[in-house]
Amino acid sequence: MWSTPNFVYKVLIWILLARQSSAIKYKFSLENEDVFTNCPNKPSNVLNVSGLFDTSESTFKTDFVSVRFSGNLTCAWNIQPGDRIQISVQLNRFDRGSWQPTVFNMHVRDFCASLYEKEQYWYKFWSKYIINKEQVREKCILPGTKFIHEPFDVDLLLEAQGLPLIGQHKLVYTFKAFDTNGVERETSICFEMLGEFQRL
Ligand SMILES: *[C@@H]1O[C@H](CO)[C@@H](O)[C@H](O)[C@H]1NC(C)=O
Ligand SMILES: *[C@@H]1O[C@H](CO)[C@@H](O)[C@H](O)[C@H]1NC(C)=O
Repeated sequence: MWSTPNFVYKVLIWILLARQSSAIKYKFSLENEDVFTNCPNKPSNVLNVSGLFDTSESTFKTDFVSVRFSGNLTCAWNIQPGDRIQISVQLNRFDRGSWQPTVFNMHVRDFCASLYEKEQYWYKFWSKYIINKEQVREKCILPGTKFIHEPFDVDLLLEAQGLPLIGQHKLVYTFKAFDTNGVERETSICFEMLGEFQRL
């Protein structure tokens, strides 16, 4: 559990301020046609992206410049009403034969509270394209909830200062659920997106 209040609702390091003139804009180009890959070496209670979403009504099409997504995602993770969903996204870089963490990471203590907030990173590249927001808003990602999307290009943009982001990177997404007593649910979710950054 994140006990430091500083972590609460912090989405910040991730989207460094656009106003900083020295920031470099990047687009994350996915390496894998399947978009999502499994986190390596996880115990069996850590589910992959299929544990989060049923993607049977959706398609990802890539022309190796962009990935175009269309269709529906149906939530599959067996969480309960009232659970708090905590997510983290960590950017790792492949360096001298192994994956190393970078300074880019994001922790969100209560994902459901901010799923449709316009300032959020995921809103810009995902949840703003959900057509039936109003119908599913209250359900967050409870099992059976179906997100119906207008087709969109998966554009993962990042602005960063400092050293250029060169070479192979991966975004590691982790979802954890906690019941109303703060006890973590038995299963969690982990999946990755592999790719490289292109300067825009
Ligand atoms: C995700 O996990 C399920 C169950 O372990 C497995 O059947 C499925 O092939 C996995 N998906 C991918 C993309 O590897
Ligand atoms: C998405 O869900 C809607 C509503 O259930 C359905 O009408 C539509 O056919 C689904 N789209 C696909 C690609 O299955």
